[in-house]
Amino acid sequence: MRIEMFAAGIIAVVLCIPAYAQGTAAKPLRGAAKKPPAAVSQARQEQAKIYGARGEDVPATYVTDRALLSYGSTLLPDFLHSLAELGPSDRWLDIGAGQGRAILEYYGERFDAMHPDGRERRGSKARSVALSIEDRRTAEWHRVAAGLEPGKISYLHGRRLREYTPAELGRFRLASDVYGGFSYTSDLSLFMARILDLLETGGSFYTLLINVRTADAARQGAKRDEVFQTEILAADGRPVGICAWLRQIACAEVACDTDPSSETPIERYRIRRTCDQVSVPALETVHFAAGTPPARLFRLVAPAVPAKP
Ligand SMILES: C[S@@+](CC[C@H](N)C(=O)[O-])C[C@H]1O[C@@H](n2cnc3c(N)ncnc32)[C@H](O)[C@@H]1O
Repeated sequence: MRIEMFAAGIIAVVLCIPAYAQGTAAKPLRGAAKKPPAAVSQARQEQAKIYGARGEDVPATYVTDRALLSYGSTLLPDFLHSLAELGPSDRWLDIGAGQGRAILEYYGERFDAMHPDGRERRGSKARSVALSIEDRRTAEWHRVAAGLEPGKISYLHGRRLREYTPAELGRFRLASDVYGGFSYTSDLSLFMARILDLLETGGSFYTLLINVRTADAARQGAKRDEVFQTEILAADGRPVGICAWLRQIACAEVACDTDPSSETPIERYRIRRTCDQVSVPALETVHFAAGTPPARLFRLVAPAVPAKP
């Protein structure tokens, strides 16, 4: 009963926080008992209402129109360089693309003006796929898409990442996720395994999480009982940093840093696929409370989730 009341409080708080503090107020329960599936599926239904919200019903904290420059300042600093390096035969996947503004701006002249090196090699640029649970395409999306060569950009909606087969989506050189599925999924290890399925060997995935136990804080001996927006516990209840968990993935090279410009601890990640036999240490969902993004507590379990060959 106490857990349910606490969870209801989290939902209320998460839906009311200001846009600049996206997600900072939600706290997963430390050491909470594993929720019954009914409670987690109820939370997922609450989350689905956020995806379905339109007009004034969209929470102010549910931002779906970040610019490409915002991706550049939010993700690890080499993201825009990696994007600028792509050529016409490469593919870029933006998971949790919202309106897809970042993709549209990639095809604009401003991007080339800001990244003059390699302009010729870039040519007509990579093909891009925007993935979103809900369709948030704008008139601008349709206008830009109509002006590009057929198949240059596509917008897939109606399903979560995990509901696509690798064959449906194909392989990508680059993937990004700015407050998309990596921040919103209730099954983080499955999500991670699916992304790695989609990356070419040598391809990279850039993402971030807000309000986590950063590797820097862990090194400085952060308090054990602190609570975070997304947290992983070992089977014995010890906290495991997100970066430390990512570094346990087989066939992945991981870079992590803390965003120096943010007071809220934001950790940024680049995960590069290095070989075929990817295996992600499995997590079970202990707690999930709907929000923008949701509050999540995971526990490490064995065995690892293998990526599809
Ligand atoms: C807060 S919006 C972020 C939009 C965009 N990245 C931006 O910064 O403007 C969250 C997006 O993630 C998508 N999303 C959440 N979970 C997802 C999942 N498991 N698979 C695919 N998309 C997901 C939502 O549908 C939505 O498009």
